Amino acid sequence: METQLKQPSTQAIEQAAELLRAGEIVAIPTETVYGIAASALNQQAVEKIFIAKARPQDNPLIVHIADRDMLPMVTSQFSSQAEKLAEAFWPGPLTMILPRGEQVCDGVCAGLDTVAVRMPSHPVAQQIIRASGLPLAAPSANLSGSPSPTTAAHVLADMQGRLPLIVNGGECQVGLESTVVSLTGERPVLLRPGAVTQQQLEEVLGVPVELAAAVLEQLQEGQKVLSPGMKYKHYAPKAQVTIVKGELGDFARYVAEHKGPDAVCLCFDGEQEQLSLPCVAYGAKEDAVQQAQQLFAALRRLDEIGAVQVFARCPSMEGVGLAVYNRLLRAAGFRVVQV
Ligand code: TXA
Ligand code: MG
Repeated sequence: METQLKQPSTQAIEQAAELLRAGEIVAIPTETVYGIAASALNQQAVEKIFIAKARPQDNPLIVHIADRDMLPMVTSQFSSQAEKLAEAFWPGPLTMILPRGEQVCDGVCAGLDTVAVRMPSHPVAQQIIRASGLPLAAPSANLSGSPSPTTAAHVLADMQGRLPLIVNGGECQVGLESTVVSLTGERPVLLRPGAVTQQQLEEVLGVPVELAAAVLEQLQEGQKVLSPGMKYKHYAPKAQVTIVKGELGDFARYVAEHKGPDAVCLCFDGEQEQLSLPCVAYGAKEDAVQQAQQLFAALRRLDEIGAVQVFARCPSMEGVGLAVYNRLLRAAGFRVVQV
């Protein structure tokens, strides 16, 4: 299959919408990461997503809507908590787990009686959803296991020949996948941290939001998962990544002692001079929003330069930093040392 990469002209948006209505898949930009979209109401279309990504079938997908009018198509109940969060954070990088609507096809929910719903703020995503008239199931547009794409070039690198069209919407502003919060249990649970923080959710809801254990811990074999996506190794470059926690001086000493061939540091801006190895930087030390925006491109860069062993500086775990740490922890396969 030939993969076309197009700028988001009216014609390209109409082409995307037509493909989606015809049951095809299309890569689209969002403000978080690029997604591979298909009609959430069409089982055969959704199956194509799993094939293109080589994604495990038990990992459910997020449904993207452009207007509240689409809610009845995807969920059977929009609670007052959901209303509050939508008012505060939609359109934007927040996904809510809600009771599943009847029209959503089985492949989207992977057998669960819940559905993940998000209203993206990226204008091109909104235009494509509106032009198609469909709620769109869309996981990140990477091959399963590799870092999520934050540019159209990343999508092309993973998906060339696997889908007919990529719509280029520029570099993603947020850079990490949306915050996922479950509203189907007794209390709200944060399943995946993102740009909308735990504290922001608590402020709007006025109740505590529990942090799912899988955000910071490796799941044990057979443990019950609230969010199936959390159990997979994710976001990983080919190199073996180790997070080294501690001050820069201690980090530099540790790395000098433990480095093997083709070792690279994943560091903060401006730290390169103090490290004895090739470096890839992922933003300013004090700026978690910038780290979020740059992390996935930095992980891909590590592969491009042939890194075999990577020592990563540890982000702060405050606010958006928790989302950065959560992704880096998975890229590191939970290998963390404290110096
Ligand atoms: O920012 C994003 O959310 C991006 C863009 C494209 O919108 N999409 C994305 O999708 O990250 P994906 O499929 O890579 O991640 C979906 C996450 C997975 O961790 C999945 O397990 C979880 O959401 N999820 C989906 N449906 C769920 C459900 N019914 N219950 C619990 N978790 C669910
Ligand atoms: Mg993903």
